Amino acid sequence: MFEQLPGLPADPILGLMLAYREDNNPNKVDLGVGVYRDESGATPILKAVLNAQQQHINSETTKSYIGPPGEPEFNHLMRELIFGRGHSVLQSNRVSSAQTPGGCGALRVGAELINRAKPNATIWVSDPTWANHVPLLGDAGLKIKTYPYFDPVTSSLREQEMMDTLAKIPAGDLVLLHGCCHNPCGVDLAESHWQNIAALANQQGFTPFIDMAYQGLSTGVDADALGVRLMADAVPELVVASSCSKNFGLYRDRVGAIAVISENDKQAEILSSQLMNVIRGIYSMPPNHGGAIVKTILADETLTSEWLNELGEMRDRINGMRDAMSSRLADRTGNERFNFIRDQRGMFSFLGIDKNQIAALQKSAGIYIVDSSRINVAGINSKNIDYVCDAIAEVI
Ligand code: LMR
Repeated sequence: MFEQLPGLPADPILGLMLAYREDNNPNKVDLGVGVYRDESGATPILKAVLNAQQQHINSETTKSYIGPPGEPEFNHLMRELIFGRGHSVLQSNRVSSAQTPGGCGALRVGAELINRAKPNATIWVSDPTWANHVPLLGDAGLKIKTYPYFDPVTSSLREQEMMDTLAKIPAGDLVLLHGCCHNPCGVDLAESHWQNIAALANQQGFTPFIDMAYQGLSTGVDADALGVRLMADAVPELVVASSCSKNFGLYRDRVGAIAVISENDKQAEILSSQLMNVIRGIYSMPPNHGGAIVKTILADETLTSEWLNELGEMRDRINGMRDAMSSRLADRTGNERFNFIRDQRGMFSFLGIDKNQIAALQKSAGIYIVDSSRINVAGINSKNIDYVCDAIAEVI
C-alpha cells in the first residue's frame, strides 16, 4: 500500500545537520541548526539541569503515567515563567495550560485546538517564519497566509507594510507572532509594535498566537516576555506555545508548554478539558523527564538563580559574538553592511548572501549555513570568528 508514496528531501535544517556531521574538513563550522554552542563549540548540559536531574533521580519513586496535562506543578511554574507571577490572567484563572513534547508539541496542540473551534481557520505567519511552522500548523488543518515582516534590503522590520496587512485581517483569523529572538531573521517587535498589534487584534477580532521558543535569550526572562504579557493584558483570547529546548538546553528531552487564555474562568475550564482531549488523541501524554527537571529548577530558589546565571552567560556570549562579528566584517569589507548583526537578537540573522555564495562557503570552507542565508550566531566563537569572517568577505 505504501508504494505510491514518493521519497522526500530531508528537512533543510536537519539535512544540513547531517551533511555537517559527514564533512571531514577539520576547520568545518556549523552555523546551521539552532542549538546553543559555548566557546568550545559544545552544547553542554547546564549545571542547574545536572543538579536538578540528580535531585529528581534521587527522589523519583515511580514511572507510572503522568496524564495528558503533564505535571500540575510544572504547569503552574511555567505559567508563572511565561506570564509573570501575579499576572491578572493567572489571578483570574483564565489560563488553561499543559506540558507538551517540546515547543513543537505545543504548536501542534494549539493548532489542533484551534481547528476544533474553527475548522480550517486561517493563521497569518510572518514572512519569513521558521520553516517548520508551516507543517506544524498546516497539517492540523489551518490555512496559512503571510504578513510582511522582514526587509532583506535594510535587514529590518517592514513596519508599515506589516501594520497595514494586520489592519485588514478579518475576525476569526489568527496571527502568529514570535515572542522574542525571531527565527529566522533576528528582528524583534518593540513594545510599541506589540501595543499596536494588540489594539488591531481588538479592533479586527483576530486572535494572536505567540511562539515563545527563546525566552531569556534576548535580554532576560522577564524582558523577553514583555510582548506575551502585554498581549495577555490586552486581548480576550491568546494562545502561547513555549519551549524549554533552548533556554534550559533540554533539546532532546522534548519539553514545552501550551497556554491558552480565555475570556473568563468558566471558558478556561472548558478549554482545559478540550486540551486534554486533543492531547489524548495525538500522543496521549507527554514524556516526564524534561518537565521534571524544569519543575525542580523553577521550584527551588538556588537552582533557579543558578539557571538564570547560566542563561545570562549564554545570552551574553551570543550578544558578544554579534558585536564581534559586525566589527570584524566591517574591518574586512570596509563598510557597515553587516552592522545589523549587532542590532539583532537571539541565535539567528540572515547574512543576506545568495545561494551561490552559501554553497561556496560550504564547499571551500566547510561553513554550513541554511540556504536562506540564516546563520546561527551561537556557532561562532573566538577560535573560528576570524576564519568565518575571512570566508564571508572572500565570497561576497
Ligand atoms: C532551528 O530553527 O534550527 C531549530 O529550531 C531546530 C529545528 O528543529 O529546526
